Amino acid sequence: MSAPPELPPLVSAALSLSGRRGFVSSTRNETGRLLATLAASRTGMLGEIGTGCGVGSAWLRSGAAEGTQILTAESDPQLAKAVAELFGDDQRIEVIEADWTALIERGPFSLLFVDAREAKLSARDVIAEAVEPGGFVVLDDFTPSAVWPPMYEGRVDTLRQEWLQDKRFTTVEVMVAPDAAVLLATKR
Ligand SMILES: C[S@@+](CC[C@H](N)C(=O)[O-])C[C@H]1O[C@@H](n2cnc3c(N)ncnc32)[C@H](O)[C@@H]1O
Repeated sequence: MSAPPELPPLVSAALSLSGRRGFVSSTRNETGRLLATLAASRTGMLGEIGTGCGVGSAWLRSGAAEGTQILTAESDPQLAKAVAELFGDDQRIEVIEADWTALIERGPFSLLFVDAREAKLSARDVIAEAVEPGGFVVLDDFTPSAVWPPMYEGRVDTLRQEWLQDKRFTTVEVMVAPDAAVLLATKR
C-alpha cells in the first residue's frame, strides 16, 4: 500500500504546536482533507469557530482559492496568541482572541467550520444567519450512525437529528473514516 498524500507544511506546523502543547482536540487529517477540498470551491470569507492549535485553519488555508480570507476565533488567550504567531507570515489567515459570537459579526461566510462545543450545541439559528446562500457549514466529531434517528451511545443524537432536519439547510452526514463522521450543511 502506498502512503497517503503528504501533509501541507502549515498543517504539519499546527500539528507540531498541538503536540508541544499536549492539545488533543485538533482536527484529524481525514476531516482536514475535506475542509481543504471544500475551501477550494469558496469565495470571500471562510470562518472557524474554535481555533485550537490552528490545524483546521491550516487545512482551510491549504485549499483556499486566491482572494479568500480565513478568520478563526479562539477564546483561550494563550492558544490564540500561539496560533497568531504560527500564522504570522500569512496575510490570508486572521486569528482573533474572542468568543465565537464576535466572529459571527464579521460574516457573512461562504464556509463556517463550527468546532467549539458551545456553538455546536446552541447556535444553529445564529449560524443560519451568518452563512451566505450556498455557503457550507461543517461540524465534525460525530460517530457514524447507520440508523434513523441517528444514535450515539444508546441515545438519539438530537444535535445531529436537528441539523439533518433543518429546512434552512441541505445536510448530509459524510463518513470520513470508519469511526468519524462530519455533517456538511449547505445553506439554501
Ligand atoms: C475542538 S477544539 C478546536 C480544534 C480546531 N478547530 C482544529 O481544527 O484543530 C475547540 C476549541 O474551541 C475553543 N472554544 C471553546 N469555547 C469557545 C468559545 N465560546 N468561543 C471561541 N472558542 C471557543 C476551545 O478553547 C478549543 O480550543
